[in-house]
Amino acid sequence: MPKILVVGSGGREHALAWQLARDGGAQLYAAPGNPGIASLARCLPIEATAISALASAAEQLHIDLTVVGPEAPLAAGLVDAFAACGLLAFGPTQRGSQLEASKVFAKNLMRRARIPTAPFAVFEDPADAAAFVRRLRRPAVVKADGLAAGKGVVVARDTTEAVSAIDALMARRVHGDAGARIVIEEKLDGEEVSVLAFVHGAHVWPLLPARDFKRAADGDTGPNTGGMGAVAPPPLPGGVMDQITAQILEPAAAAMAADGCPFIGVLYAGIMLTPTGPQVLEFNCRFGDPETQVILPLLDAPLADVLLDVVHGREPELRWANQSAVCVVLASGGYPGQFRTGLPISGLDAGSEDVVVFHAGTGLRGADVVTAGGRVLNIVARGASIPQASDRAYTAIPGIQFDAMQYRRDIGRSAAVAPVAPAIAGGGI
Ligand code: AMP
Ligand code: GLY
Repeated sequence: MPKILVVGSGGREHALAWQLARDGGAQLYAAPGNPGIASLARCLPIEATAISALASAAEQLHIDLTVVGPEAPLAAGLVDAFAACGLLAFGPTQRGSQLEASKVFAKNLMRRARIPTAPFAVFEDPADAAAFVRRLRRPAVVKADGLAAGKGVVVARDTTEAVSAIDALMARRVHGDAGARIVIEEKLDGEEVSVLAFVHGAHVWPLLPARDFKRAADGDTGPNTGGMGAVAPPPLPGGVMDQITAQILEPAAAAMAADGCPFIGVLYAGIMLTPTGPQVLEFNCRFGDPETQVILPLLDAPLADVLLDVVHGREPELRWANQSAVCVVLASGGYPGQFRTGLPISGLDAGSEDVVVFHAGTGLRGADVVTAGGRVLNIVARGASIPQASDRAYTAIPGIQFDAMQYRRDIGRSAAVAPVAPAIAGGGI
């Protein structure tokens, strides 16, 4: 039985541990994990970015495979450090992680590989950047080059907003050195879809598509968050997945390999389905959160085997349940602004055969589970359709309580699953 270490402490890592445990085919550890993960795995008190401590633990425990959730340890070189100790970790090397850690790197790669993405320019000087958006006369999107926990992107409504985003990122450095360089690109319109794929060098094996809901309030209003819910698979126009694979995922993997940094792990493409076809908004170098929470419960194959196959460059056996999944995030009141933590949570046993409660931001106070983050729990349900899965998730929620709990009421309902307009221009594949 392989020994697997899951690195991270959120809902995505709980979903990874849950799926690995479901197969019954692995002995599980997590670092640092959370109280939900602790029911499935032995949690080690090591932070996700403490790479040498993680490597020592993996050596001592004879871990066969380490699966990394968050981007920070990948960008800091966890996979390289593990390889230097003869340890196997699932994810790209530090160079491969540049696809997420540097928007300039990703945009230049897309330009070279002719991958459809918004036209862009790169700036190291705030005055040049401001002059550019004043000349542009079109809505601009301002992006910090480096990692900013999903908060380094401003979709500006007008020139004033774009200029103040440039000032915040570059002059005031609200995200530190991530804003030393910025990308300014044209705003794209359309529906978004997240397409994740297992990649080993030039080989690409797409997962089921998903859609996440980033705005805090119903109807996609309110401020951006780390994600208030997700559905899988969202209704997509016919041929779009093949188009995304052939025009985006395969050329990206091929370009990385040709550049001498073959990508191994999960490549996540954030895509806008525009009237002229799918275009890339961003690449991530890891499992999405909360997309993973709806994709993995639909995987009908042993995840440990799949991950080991991908790392070794063998074709994984990806079988998908003919079902849908919906994730509703229960968040702390006030999130994504100020919120309280340490509030007791009741009703955590609300799960059933079709509903799972993943812990995203929870902690322990004595024996009690308390809130410990902005996004606290992920209620994930499966069903024959997205509306059925959504109904099951929302039926489970009233049993769960903590002070000032907030959540969206429309995930998998109403506009959130309306079929999108055909997005194929220039012919499908
Ligand atoms: P990113 O981290 O680059 O994916 O950006 C975060 C979010 O900003 C995306 O999920 C989109 O909702 C939005 N976004 C990014 N780039 C663009 C763009 N060029 N046009 C419109 N929206 C964008
Ligand atoms: N769901 C967005 C992300 O994982 O970055």
